[in-house]
Amino acid sequence: MNTLPTVFITGASSGIGATYAERFARRGHDLVLVARDKSRLDTLATRLRAECKVAVDVLQADLTNPADLSALEIRLRDDVRIGILINNAGMAQTGRFVDQSAEGIDRLVSLNTLALTRLAAAIAPRFVASGSGAIVNIGSVVGFAPEFGTSIYGATKAFVLFLSQGLNVELSPKGVYVQAVLPAATRTEIWERSGIDVNTLPEVMDVEELVDAALVGFDRRESVTIPPLQVAERWDVLERERKGLLSDIRQAHAAARYLSKA
Ligand SMILES: NC(=O)c1ccc[n+]([C@@H]2O[C@H](COP(=O)([O-])OP(=O)(O)OC[C@H]3O[C@@H](n4cnc5c(N)ncnc54)[C@H](OP(=O)(O)O)[C@@H]3O)[C@@H](O)[C@H]2O)c1
Repeated sequence: MNTLPTVFITGASSGIGATYAERFARRGHDLVLVARDKSRLDTLATRLRAECKVAVDVLQADLTNPADLSALEIRLRDDVRIGILINNAGMAQTGRFVDQSAEGIDRLVSLNTLALTRLAAAIAPRFVASGSGAIVNIGSVVGFAPEFGTSIYGATKAFVLFLSQGLNVELSPKGVYVQAVLPAATRTEIWERSGIDVNTLPEVMDVEELVDAALVGFDRRESVTIPPLQVAERWDVLERERKGLLSDIRQAHAAARYLSKA
């Protein structure tokens, strides 16, 4: 019997999710792989079972489909072998804000934020009860770059960072590890899926390098891992300034510049 926790990975049929699957399988973990494309999941599962001698379950699910999402929540609640959740499935935005359709906005927001939150919420109570477990949420550096012009996608990724930091505050004292991973441009299908030729981008990280770096952060129990950030202190300074802002905004009175002269 495998004594390592089983790893539940969404968006495991390609890119970052498939690479996490490979890396955790090589570490000896059993896997539960989730995505819509069952044949790709089956191919990956067959290879990892043969190469790594681990058990791999495949769950075909569209995370924007309420019935599929509910079934995954039940699995996360009930399967006590699952000790690591990699909340990775996501999609990018095609076009500017003014080009978006109602259905497109629904799909983007519900996949990148709602599904991720629901899956974390399904497993967190069990993790808290056992005083163990890890939740990894894949955000993006776009979450702090409104200048990049993909407002809705960026907003969903700002949500992922905020949620992860909030969960970290609540869950880490209970023994649950929460990590936000913030990649920059990484060579995966997400670009093609949103109509962008990845070869036109100036700096693109290979997916193996991204996931291996994220796993270094995971092993160190970092709460926020930004693999492309060269100067780690920049993040520390930003966090210090943000926390300074918090002490300054707890005031009973408006700031002097807003006091009406009348
Ligand atoms: N690549 C980058 O430059 C980059 C940068 C920053 C952050 N990220 C984030 O990294 C994560 C993984 O993306 P990736 O770059 O690896 O892209 P990817 O290769 O396109 O992978 C996306 C994964 O999500 C799955 N997925 C998409 N829609 C789904 C749905 N409705 N239900 C269930 N699964 C769904 C896809 O599988 P199916 O199509 O089989 O469902 C696929 O396995 C995303 O959250 C993305 O925002 C990527």
